[in-house]
Amino acid sequence: MRILEQLDVAGKRVVVRVDWNVTLGRTLEIVDDMRIGKTLPTTRYLLEHGATQVILLAHLGKPGGKAVTELSLAPVAKYAETLLGEEIKFWSSVAECQSDTVSRVKMLENLRFWPGEEANDLEFAKQLANLGDVYVDEAFGEAHRQAASIVGIPKLLPSAAGLWFATEVEKITKAVARPERPFVVVMGGAKVDDKIKLLEALSQKADVILLGGKLANEFVSRGMKLAGTARVITPVEGSNLLDIGEETQRLFTAEIMQAGTVVWNGPMGKVEDMAYQAGTDAMFVAVAETPAYTLVGGGDTLAALHDEGHFERIDHISTGGGAMLALIEKGTLPGIEALR
Ligand code: 3PG
Repeated sequence: MRILEQLDVAGKRVVVRVDWNVTLGRTLEIVDDMRIGKTLPTTRYLLEHGATQVILLAHLGKPGGKAVTELSLAPVAKYAETLLGEEIKFWSSVAECQSDTVSRVKMLENLRFWPGEEANDLEFAKQLANLGDVYVDEAFGEAHRQAASIVGIPKLLPSAAGLWFATEVEKITKAVARPERPFVVVMGGAKVDDKIKLLEALSQKADVILLGGKLANEFVSRGMKLAGTARVITPVEGSNLLDIGEETQRLFTAEIMQAGTVVWNGPMGKVEDMAYQAGTDAMFVAVAETPAYTLVGGGDTLAALHDEGHFERIDHISTGGGAMLALIEKGTLPGIEALR
């Protein structure tokens, strides 16, 4: 994979794909800004190394090819502007964005408002590629998707991985290439269909899989069995749960404490409701305290974790959820292959 330091950016307009698919609260406030913060060093690097313009591209939610007011990236760009300490000029159309030749940093509206993004349409990729001279992928969390901005643009422009993208790939790959055993995977959350497919593959790599959240409810109610050798443990309290109960918390904690490697993605319950956070909090404590090598990732997971002190005790916190798991499963991702 080509990395940022190998790309000549001086005097160039640089298209940067970021994953600012942040969790928004009830009043559209940003619940967790880690996905934004981790990508800013690349923007700063580009400006310091003489890039004439940085053009930020990102998606938010699942608008399915339609413009939806609640999923505009405008408030996210405004928020990022404060963190970056630099104006981010926001544009709703590709043409307007292209004709802005003066802004040092500019951003295009939610890419998923255009059907061509998720359809990986070459014509759309060409429109995006025309915004710049070179391309940097800093959207690790989206690297498992065959989207125009992820796999299309690098076919058209010289391209490289951003600083954080490269760190993610290195840390995750190192941890799971020859994992210390027992290798325990903790999975929960709501993106059930995506994760059920991954479970089959992970059951052949991990020793133990601990399931919580909506994912566990579905797994139990569908009566699923996995082909691999991993021991799958579902909540002892049954299905249809809004959170894992105390007995399950104890069971899961014991497995995590004995692990050599722990990978965690997805909250254990309906964490957006304060009443159902205890299970996720208990897993956070266990993952912080275990002597195992620990990898934690996913937008919803990060948004559910509050105790900053615990963060320091986790070996790698990934901004990717599905992407982290897919990289563990396959050893590579479409977004990585596109940068070779
Ligand atoms: C994520 O939130 O994991 C990434 O931004 C990918 O989002 P997606 O599942 O909607 O493609």
